[in-house]
Amino acid sequence: MPWDLIKLNDGTSIPSVAYGTWRLGSGDQSVDYVDEAISVGFSHIDTAQGYGNEAEAGKAIRESGLARKDIYITTKFSNRDGLTIEEAIQSSLKKLGVEYVDLYLIHWPGYAQPDIPTAWAVMEKLKAQGLTKSIGVSNFEIPHLEILINSAKVYPAANQIQIHAYNFQDQLPLIEFGKKYGIVSEGYSPLIPITRMPGGPVDKPLNEISSRLNAKPEQVLLAWAKSKGVVVVTSTTKKERMEGYIAAGDLPLTVEDIAAIDEAGKQGARQQTARTFIRRAVFICGLGAIALGLAGALGIDIL
Ligand SMILES: NC(=O)c1ccc[n+]([C@@H]2O[C@H](COP(=O)([O-])OP(=O)(O)OC[C@H]3O[C@@H](n4cnc5c(N)ncnc54)[C@H](OP(=O)(O)O)[C@@H]3O)[C@@H](O)[C@H]2O)c1
Repeated sequence: MPWDLIKLNDGTSIPSVAYGTWRLGSGDQSVDYVDEAISVGFSHIDTAQGYGNEAEAGKAIRESGLARKDIYITTKFSNRDGLTIEEAIQSSLKKLGVEYVDLYLIHWPGYAQPDIPTAWAVMEKLKAQGLTKSIGVSNFEIPHLEILINSAKVYPAANQIQIHAYNFQDQLPLIEFGKKYGIVSEGYSPLIPITRMPGGPVDKPLNEISSRLNAKPEQVLLAWAKSKGVVVVTSTTKKERMEGYIAAGDLPLTVEDIAAIDEAGKQGARQQTARTFIRRAVFICGLGAIALGLAGALGIDIL
């Protein structure tokens, strides 16, 4: 199955893979990256006020020649430059060079000021004004969503959170909670098992599946994320990888492949927890030894 559209709770649809501009920097090079991503088939660009390259993304979108309706634009309120939500969306629209965005998100719960209900009411107003087709949140956890839902007239269409093989089990309750209210989860940083946490238990099934399917590990991870029914938000600066990411929508992962990655992911999460515990224990012992040493040097008897 290729990268399809996913229906949102407000009747619109969102392309299930997005090209993110977070680490692309600014200037001509980032225009070229977004240009290339669109040319290989990405129709969803994920940017943010805080990424500092909305103007570059906008330039690439204009240069693509695509009609506005054929490109899906997500941007986020990142609480920068002292702008209110209302001012920030106007600034983003200007930089992007469009009259509306498709999805506007509150980037982090802490940016919902003075509180979540008040900030969300502003988001609802932006939607009513047609400045954004859909509204949503990012990095919200269940307690944040509960507060929001209790006061909302319009439920968020999406919650963009980190989802990869090593944190999937931890994120599952949040994903399920979202489903109850029609909130689609978007998963960013799906490639963490090979970018920031290589060498863990996921490597083995990943390499086996990649060899069998003659695919790259990053393609298998994207196909795995897709199998979870989330919108996959990824990125690369390499054209060859961009093409691979688009092709990953057709990778025929089996139920067993998905289960093997899930299982390895769970083990990795346990290993991480154990490692964190050991690191903390070593740190506390170290502090204790320093305190004892200092006390000894000062002639204080603390034992
Ligand atoms: N809402 C939020 O708070 C939030 C937070 C983080 C991210 N995001 C969004 O999600 C997007 C993607 O985030 P991400 O960059 O963390 O996602 P990712 O898809 O997990 O990682 C993308 C990175 O993986 C590298 N990569 C791909 N294949 C690789 C391989 N085989 N070996 C080593 N590295 C490989 C790419 O490097 P190359 O360029 O070298 O190919 C690229 O830098 C962001 O741009 C942003 O739009 C949102």
